[in-house]
Amino acid sequence: MSARVLPADSPQAIAEAASVIRGGGLVAFPTETVYGLGANAFDPRAVARVFQAKARPSFDPLIVHLAEASDLPRVAAVLDPRTERLARRFWPGPLTLVLAKTDAVPEIVTSGLDTVGVRVPAHPAAHALLVAAATPIAAPSANPFGYVSPTTAAHVVEQLGEAADVVLDGGPCRVGVESTILSLAQDPPAILRPGGLAREELEACLGTPLALASAAARPSAPGQLLVHYATRTPLRILGGPAQEAPAGAGRVGLLALGPTAAPGFAAVEVLTEDGDLAAAASRLFAALRRLDALGLGLILAEPCPERGLGLAIMDRLRRAAARSHPYRQMI
Ligand code: TXA
Ligand code: MG
Repeated sequence: MSARVLPADSPQAIAEAASVIRGGGLVAFPTETVYGLGANAFDPRAVARVFQAKARPSFDPLIVHLAEASDLPRVAAVLDPRTERLARRFWPGPLTLVLAKTDAVPEIVTSGLDTVGVRVPAHPAAHALLVAAATPIAAPSANPFGYVSPTTAAHVVEQLGEAADVVLDGGPCRVGVESTILSLAQDPPAILRPGGLAREELEACLGTPLALASAAARPSAPGQLLVHYATRTPLRILGGPAQEAPAGAGRVGLLALGPTAAPGFAAVEVLTEDGDLAAAASRLFAALRRLDALGLGLILAEPCPERGLGLAIMDRLRRAAARSHPYRQMI
């Protein structure tokens, strides 16, 4: 049976979605970053369905979503004063904190780790759902494991429409890339995944530079594997602005950072007209999906500066470009 798609701004739809969550079902819902596929975080059987729906390996932990920062003690130990400072400054918003977990969080959510990733999403529908369900919601991005995250309800329906009981349609996601993941469970704290909150903002709040954990140094976060966010079409990152489409690669698509006159491309997606990296991030995944749907031989992507949201954009592009995608057969 395929999901019922309901308008995210309808109180009735929220009530219905909340009762699905309470009954052990799955709800895809909008957040300010990307759409999530949610289950009651305290219901291991419901969480197991999320892993199954995504074909997600059980070693890849889920993020727990809360209605309010004041719910944090339900799922995590708040031992570090920095936790409170960050939560007050950036929640609700695109920041996930990795903290020591409480016993209330089932092992399946954290893949057996003694830490939990937690965030308070800023989208009104996500907030309303969390309030109405009256339980933390474990939710990964609502895409098959390894593929590009969804930024519209249609993206979710295309790929996981059979798996979700309800899809709340809240239109396109404002931020467009996943949350920034900061681990406070290690000393010094480190960014496990660059995302919708700029590293510079976190550093300003904490008053200290933050290291970006390398993929190899993240055995505790397998979802940060180098190969992720991949299109089916091979993707390569250019060294600078596109010149002309290469010969011999079949039909080639271009993911351009700005307006371009480069000739010979079968399709061109322009991420920003004026170099605004936040705007580019918000369009990135939908643009990749459109190019990926065209049956091209190759996608070439222009690079962007790695400041602000440019860090998350380049991270996603590098993962998409990583060779020999082990999940390509599955998606
Ligand atoms: O913006 C987002 O974060 C979206 C929306 C739906 O909230 N969610 C999202 O979830 O991107 P997902 O599952 O696609 O990515 C979560 C990442 C995973 O790669 C996982 O490895 C990491 O968070 N993670 C979760 N819990 C962790 C933990 N305890 N320690 C380290 N990494 C963790
Ligand atoms: Mg994901």
